Amino acid sequence: MKLFIKKPIQQLLAATVESEKTLKRTLGVGSLIALGIGAIIGAGLFVRTAAAAGEHAGPAVTISFIIAASGCALAGLCYAEFASMIPIAGSAYTYSYATMGEFIAWIIGWDLVLEYALGAATVSIGWSQYFNEFLNTFFHVHIPFSLCHSPFESSITTTGMYAAEYGAHGLINLPAIFIILMLTLLLIRGTAESAVVNNIIVVVKVAIVLLIIGLGWKYINPANHTPYMIPADAGSVKVSTGVVNYADTFNHGWLGVLRGASVVFFAFIGFDAVSTAAQEAKNPQKDMPKGILISLVICTALYILFSHVLTGLASYKDFLIQGKEASVTYAITNFMPGYGWLASLVTVAILAGFSSVILVMLMGQTRVFYTMSTDGLIPPIFSKLHPKHRTPYKSQWLFFVFVSLFSGFIPDRIVGDMVSIGTLFAFVLVCLGIFILRRTDPDIIRPFKTPWYMVVCPLGAVVCLCMIASEGWENWARLIVWLLIGFVIYFGYSIKRSHVRRGVVDAANNPPNPKYVE
Ligand code: ALA
Repeated sequence: MKLFIKKPIQQLLAATVESEKTLKRTLGVGSLIALGIGAIIGAGLFVRTAAAAGEHAGPAVTISFIIAASGCALAGLCYAEFASMIPIAGSAYTYSYATMGEFIAWIIGWDLVLEYALGAATVSIGWSQYFNEFLNTFFHVHIPFSLCHSPFESSITTTGMYAAEYGAHGLINLPAIFIILMLTLLLIRGTAESAVVNNIIVVVKVAIVLLIIGLGWKYINPANHTPYMIPADAGSVKVSTGVVNYADTFNHGWLGVLRGASVVFFAFIGFDAVSTAAQEAKNPQKDMPKGILISLVICTALYILFSHVLTGLASYKDFLIQGKEASVTYAITNFMPGYGWLASLVTVAILAGFSSVILVMLMGQTRVFYTMSTDGLIPPIFSKLHPKHRTPYKSQWLFFVFVSLFSGFIPDRIVGDMVSIGTLFAFVLVCLGIFILRRTDPDIIRPFKTPWYMVVCPLGAVVCLCMIASEGWENWARLIVWLLIGFVIYFGYSIKRSHVRRGVVDAANNPPNPKYVE
């Protein structure tokens, strides 16, 4: 059995001929960077930063950002080489099918569900927190604790909007499910987010990050930055999901910083979105790597400064208790007197910004599954198009149900960690894959070559593996279970139906849909 059978590049090209006619090459480096930043800045910065600081890294979450960024930059270079080898738009799944073979492509495609579908779930849980803040600020009402939290959480603060509900248990996170439903409906109607809307949201997101850095800087309390890393004897804190004990290995010192890196790694997810726009780029071979790397550099600089200010405003322990939810609004309202307007602006901007991230992720998910379905690896229902809107509506509904189960019933830290570990694992495969391909197929044309690949590829894999190692056995177990489910489906279903294996030319059998073809 040829486990690593490859999809012929000609077949990939044939399937995109149609879409080439409809997509115009309009994106320059600037637009690609905007696209990258649009997909990158989201709940990672506005929710996970506080969680990483509070639980693992303290003020040194700035260093966590540097570690996570270096993993992303190294993997990003490999990713850019990978993307440039196949002269069409696509995801890591598409590229790996043509270069590393079906089995690896399956693992990556299966893994992307963790990145995209659970990524959408994580951001929707963050959206729910800021939505409640929005209701509270503008209408002085809020949703009862039980209806906007998972069953694994309970209310632990005696201040703020839930003061009267101390001890209440969560039941279901309705606002998180609501936003997923709204965006699913939007995607089914086929209202693709336009580049103009994306650019506006990018400007707003970057503007509020800069405003918080600029205006918040003078309110930094140096006492909150001392000591910079969490000491082992920092005690323990009761949190909504249990107790955080700082004496635990990955909750203090350098190992805490490393664990923090795996948490804030979430904030960088999405930079690979740039590569999916290769077909619309004016000069993909040169501009794509630039787009990927420059958007990463800009975001890293913003993240470091932002987290420096955030952890300077409030003590890291605050972010586990009163400031656990809508942490940024909390810090501004309580520690930047006179800036209530900024807190309100941030809340509204975050709601819009998060929505665009969720939209991109939900769409990315159905897109990858659309392609996997046209390849015969998953059932045809995932490539069934709506008769009028020409969107994969059944797939969109199935993912609505799947994502809602996580949005509605699982705490954000668990879902977020699953996203991080899944994406990190895919990055490890990409880094190793590029290294192996350089040796096994040195003659493939590579318009973009990873510099010093002998160092960059292994180092990228090692940095990502270190972050995976810090995630702990519960997260490893979740990843392993997910992969095992994937293997059962692959060996039980996909391997018998794979079009490449059966010699089916999918361009002829599955006429491509201009909107959804990769
Ligand atoms: N990077 C994206 C975010 O932080 C996924 O929301």
